[in-house]
Amino acid sequence: MGVGLLVYVDPGEILGSQPTGLNLDQVSYLGQCLVEATPDNFESSLAFLRQNFSKLAINFDVRQLRSWDHVVDLLNNGASKLFVNFEQLKALSQEPTISQDRLVLTISLVNPKTDIGKLKSFLETNTEWMTREWAFYGDKGNEQVDEVLKELGNYPPSHDQTIFVRITSEGEGRNLLHEYPGNALIVSSKLLTFDQSKEGHEKLIPAVDLVLAGATPDRKTGLYATTVVDERGVALGLVWSSKESIAEALKTGAGVYQSRKRGLWHKGASSGDTQELISIAFDCDKDCLLFKVHQKGKGFCHLGTTSCWGKSSGLSKLQRTLLDRKVDAPEGSYTARLFNDSKLVNAKIKEEADELCAANTKEDIASEAADLLYFALTRCIAAGVTLEDIEKNLDLKSLKVKRRKGDAKPQYVEDKPPKEQSQSESNGVNGPQDEEVKEAASVPKAPSDPAGKTSSGRIELKRYSTTQAFSDDVLKAALQRPSQKSNEKIMSLVRPIIADVRADGDSAVLQYTHKFEKATSLKSPVLKAPFPESLMQLPEETIKAINISYDNILKFHSAQKSSAPLVVETMPGVTCSRFSRPIEKVGLYIPGGTAVLPSTALMLGVPAMAAGCKDIVFASPPRADGTLTPEIVYIAHKVGAREIVLAGGAQAVAAMAYGTESITKVDKILGPGNQFVTAAKMLVSNDTSAAVSIDMPAGPSEVLVIADKTADPAFVASDLLSQAEHGTDSQVVLIAIDLDEKELQAIEDEVHKQAHELPRVDIVRGAIEHSVTISVATLEEAMKWSNYYAPEHLILQIAEPRSVLPSVQNAGSVFIGGWTPESVGDYSAGVNHSLPTYGYARQYSGVNLGSFTKSITSSEVTEQGVGEVGYAVMELARCEGLDAHRRAMEIRMEKLGIVERKVPANGNTAVGKDEPVTAAGEQGAEATIQPTKSTPSESQTDGVEAPTAA
Ligand SMILES: *[C@@H]1O[C@H](CO)[C@@H](O)[C@H](O)[C@H]1NC(C)=O
Ligand SMILES: *[C@@H]1O[C@H](CO)[C@@H](O)[C@H](O)[C@H]1NC(C)=O
Ligand SMILES: *[C@@H]1O[C@H](CO)[C@@H](O)[C@H](O)[C@H]1NC(C)=O
Ligand SMILES: *[C@@H]1O[C@H](CO)[C@@H](O)[C@H](O)[C@H]1NC(C)=O
Ligand SMILES: *[C@@H]1O[C@H](CO)[C@@H](O)[C@H](O)[C@H]1NC(C)=O
Repeated sequence: MGVGLLVYVDPGEILGSQPTGLNLDQVSYLGQCLVEATPDNFESSLAFLRQNFSKLAINFDVRQLRSWDHVVDLLNNGASKLFVNFEQLKALSQEPTISQDRLVLTISLVNPKTDIGKLKSFLETNTEWMTREWAFYGDKGNEQVDEVLKELGNYPPSHDQTIFVRITSEGEGRNLLHEYPGNALIVSSKLLTFDQSKEGHEKLIPAVDLVLAGATPDRKTGLYATTVVDERGVALGLVWSSKESIAEALKTGAGVYQSRKRGLWHKGASSGDTQELISIAFDCDKDCLLFKVHQKGKGFCHLGTTSCWGKSSGLSKLQRTLLDRKVDAPEGSYTARLFNDSKLVNAKIKEEADELCAANTKEDIASEAADLLYFALTRCIAAGVTLEDIEKNLDLKSLKVKRRKGDAKPQYVEDKPPKEQSQSESNGVNGPQDEEVKEAASVPKAPSDPAGKTSSGRIELKRYSTTQAFSDDVLKAALQRPSQKSNEKIMSLVRPIIADVRADGDSAVLQYTHKFEKATSLKSPVLKAPFPESLMQLPEETIKAINISYDNILKFHSAQKSSAPLVVETMPGVTCSRFSRPIEKVGLYIPGGTAVLPSTALMLGVPAMAAGCKDIVFASPPRADGTLTPEIVYIAHKVGAREIVLAGGAQAVAAMAYGTESITKVDKILGPGNQFVTAAKMLVSNDTSAAVSIDMPAGPSEVLVIADKTADPAFVASDLLSQAEHGTDSQVVLIAIDLDEKELQAIEDEVHKQAHELPRVDIVRGAIEHSVTISVATLEEAMKWSNYYAPEHLILQIAEPRSVLPSVQNAGSVFIGGWTPESVGDYSAGVNHSLPTYGYARQYSGVNLGSFTKSITSSEVTEQGVGEVGYAVMELARCEGLDAHRRAMEIRMEKLGIVERKVPANGNTAVGKDEPVTAAGEQGAEATIQPTKSTPSESQTDGVEAPTAA
């Protein structure tokens, strides 16, 4: 509580030459001052606060301020307390971040009756303010104050309550403090003096009288016990003070005390170890003085030590040593080099910070922190910054009304574009320092390095975090790949159809179906499973035929499924493996119209089912009455399709590629189609926002690194950069699992540092522009986003990388563990580097052995086989109206004299049923259970014939 004197100052006057009274240095000896802030003097009041807050506690009377921002500015710049009126108090009390200790309720006793009435009613509803700090401004002397306190039932005030009272004469003040020592006096600097000789002159009040009013001296000696401390509050010794010595100390601004033997004692007068006075204060019950001083020379104690309790230690000692060395370190010594070479000291700080981050045990952390503090303090002392400055800065930060979160930089706390933030930061303190660190690392740069010329700041990935308020949409937008770039007539007819379906969804699909299929009665563009029995009413023969083909196709394709992953050790310690995953959502286009093509549905649907695709979507144009051929519905049912899109042509492709309100968006579209279907597939597969495939397109290289706390920041950075150097359109993504600010920073620092060492730094800079870091809390989340992104290269720099493989759903190639850089896959491990980019890892494999072989299928049917399968072939050929196909089977059955042509119960029994045989005749057609997938008639039978005709 200082000395119970709050010196009212006018910044303008006290910084100029005030004709009478105290100057600012003198006021600061008393510890605190009060400034009246008004809208007119606000800027200069704020400047005064900013530049002097470390010297003394500055309080503001803000009753005239109207702007909330002004009030908050004062608080945030270190104002000690604000003197406020009722209204301001109510408003500020609502702010949870404003400590009520920093508010003083100010009562102006101009109209005592009204004012007291107001105060009473205020206190009735705000009882907590009964015991908080009040300030009285009266104009008729301050006997009033006691009366008012009594009237309010608050006399004497509680002992932790300070009542500030503005006074204009010494007598007034002395009385007030005798009545109640907890009072504090507000008195103008112009009315005070430290000069005893001026006592009695004019109206000046000797400050020492007010300082000692209400204080309790030692009973025996009549002196005041005095603790002497240094700037940081470290005790130097215990001495005595008298009124005379205090007056002398204030007047001379030095450590002056009262020796019981020798009288007035000017500390250091004989030894030279003098003291500069910083401030004086009383303790809580006003019976012990505190002198805060700056000790010069050897120290305070007559034995030559810093304090009377021995030598200094810890940070104080380190600071003392560094201050001494700064003056007289031997040339060429390490400390001298540190002081002389800012690059060296900055590099050491970084190195020690890294080591502190990596430390685990208590001792290691203490040891690394000590090293870091050593170099940090060296940097400070070299720049003339002391521990006191640092501590005052800490105090200032603690006074901020809205504090920055300690664990994150502002771009994570505030919803601002991360880029802007990082730029403003690199323009600030960090940028230049990092440049220096880079150079201090003394790694030779390539001669052609253009970084020096074009460097505009840090090379760093934009940061996002799932633990902050980033929505999935924001993250998905952040993960967008940088934008990439036929029969043009057909394309131009198809483009508007795709655009319409994208824009209007179901209604556009329906509209085109009404137009092209003439199915005007159709109300919904999609049929959802389970499909009604009524729509798959087929002759039993047809069902059996489908059953047989289904079983055979399933058998064959199931056998193609390799159950065990291929694992090959190509070199000792270099293991490559191949494993497969089904594409989750597939859209199977089955041409319709006049022809019925159950074979296409089987050939597409059964492998999809065998592969284990989760969502199978069929699309087929409906007939004019709005129905589908029942064969297709039945097959869709058998393969477990989720839905059938009742549309054909470009509109069906677009609907499956983008999804609509009711149609599922798929990852890959398969199936034959006419030129419109083909054009639509090319267009949607070229549209990266559709993220749907038909064929493997090539795109810019990319890598996604998942790193946890075990990852080496330098490795992580090197992997990110190895893809970033491919081209400015490359993209690299870091998913950081539970990394704290320091760990993220370590990676960013490495990226920045290593990037500058690369000859292709400008390409890297371009790639990094659209590259991101996403912070997530868990491995599961990391995998979720990695699978969402579907990277070409996925690098797992995590604790147990191999255990994560089962949850890798989408990736071109996986690099397991910190020792496996992506480049090993590019050149030497054995896996192929032709991999799906641009998110096509969702539906494509990288180039593998299968891509370089073709599959030849052969069929051999025996006499017995003709009996087994003949019926099904003929029945399906009949369905499709391809008579020559049917005849080719029939002619053989006739030859064998198979007259009972019942469909066998299953493929292995030869029992047939009666079935009339049509006349023999045609020859030469191949006998296969596998009709061609795309028939010659498809382009006429498909949905979108209208545009070309037009
Ligand atoms: C106090 O603030 C003023 C500006 O308002 C400045 O000129 C002066 O140097 C400051 N004094 C100290 C000791 O910082
Ligand atoms: C500091 O560096 C300057 C040259 O930059 C040199 O002249 C001086 O001797 C150095 N001082 C010490 C203490 O090493
Ligand atoms: C066709 O196969 C299904 C099983 O998928 C079976 O329930 C049904 O009875 C079979 N129908 C005929 C006629 O074989
Ligand atoms: C698809 O994109 C490639 C380049 O990425 C381009 O060459 C091709 O013309 C595009 N095709 C269509 C149909 O837009
Ligand atoms: C990798 O793929 C490329 C085509 O991009 C091919 O030329 C090469 O032979 C493949 N290498 C291996 C080992 O499969």
